[in-house]
Amino acid sequence: MDYPAEVRIYEVGPRDGLQNEAQPISTPAKLEYIRLLRAAGLRDIEVTSFVSPTAIPQLADADEVMRALAGEPDGGIRYPVLVPNERGLDRAVAAGARELAVFTAASDAFTQRNIGMTIDESLAAFEPVLRRAAAMGWWKRAYVSTAFGCPFTGQVTVEKVVEVSLRLVELGADEICLGDTIGVGVPSQVHELTAAVVAAGLPLDRLAYHFHDTRGTALANVLAGLEDGVACFDSSTGGTGGCPYAPGAAGNLATEDLVYLLDGMSIAHGARLEDVLAAARFIAATLGRALASKVGQAGGWDRHTGTRTHAAAP
Ligand code: COA
Ligand code: ZN
Repeated sequence: MDYPAEVRIYEVGPRDGLQNEAQPISTPAKLEYIRLLRAAGLRDIEVTSFVSPTAIPQLADADEVMRALAGEPDGGIRYPVLVPNERGLDRAVAAGARELAVFTAASDAFTQRNIGMTIDESLAAFEPVLRRAAAMGWWKRAYVSTAFGCPFTGQVTVEKVVEVSLRLVELGADEICLGDTIGVGVPSQVHELTAAVVAAGLPLDRLAYHFHDTRGTALANVLAGLEDGVACFDSSTGGTGGCPYAPGAAGNLATEDLVYLLDGMSIAHGARLEDVLAAARFIAATLGRALASKVGQAGGWDRHTGTRTHAAAP
């Protein structure tokens, strides 16, 4: 089997990972988490959301977080921020962002609850956002949430996912990320979706997947994506996360579990497991809970030497 030689890990811990946490996390703690992620070699780190603070109170300090990061030397690191509308873009510009992610879904029922818009309305809202971002030379990602199933209406068709993806490409998105928001997807569905969007004209190198591990299928889905030649996967260090507007959503695929898989398969990605685990332990301690990820609990293993490589959780 031919897998990509190298993949991008797109870290969503500071955004997706924290947005659903009820207990307020201080801005300095968020910045420390982001610095640890950067120190672990992660190169795409989605750092916050310029959404309504009423909708996502945990990320109400987006302006402060982004401003602090924008002032630091970045060495080619991307810090995309979630932007739902032009108001969010104005805030992102003022705070010094240079990469963004817009987000819609393959189900109207979900976008209605998440952003108070139909899919069509969301695309209309993104049009000026993506146009202005393009004029500033920003990198632009677009999420299609509920691509594997909707918590409100159930089944989502492949045709709908393709249609929404292509419209986002027309609007100028550089990367399309298909999200299994509630973690119901299975590998055969990944193959079906990849084949359909690629057949519709989306180049493989502009496709990413975002899996939640709600039912334990996230890594199996990553493997299916790798088999298809997909080379960008989202994950959250510490395995935190979930959307408050998606009942039943559990944690994201943990970055440490993804790193372990990729290391074992000799697929390059740039992150170091030991340092990812340090960031994972930091955020777990900040949230006051045990680190729940598989590799966080068991530690690493080097199959070439047959030895444990990283300590298990205390
Ligand atoms: N940043 C800050 N405030 C914003 C904003 C932004 N980008 N966009 C809108 N607002 C404010 C408005 O000023 C208004 O404030 P007010 O109540 O004090 O007057 C309030 O939010 C509502 O704005 P409105 O334009 O009526 O939009 P809405 O209530 O339909 O909300 C969104 C639309 C998109 C702003 C909101 O649903 C949202 O932020 N959703 C994000 C959900 C999310 O992040 N989910 C997780 C990611 S999967
Ligand atoms: Zn997610």
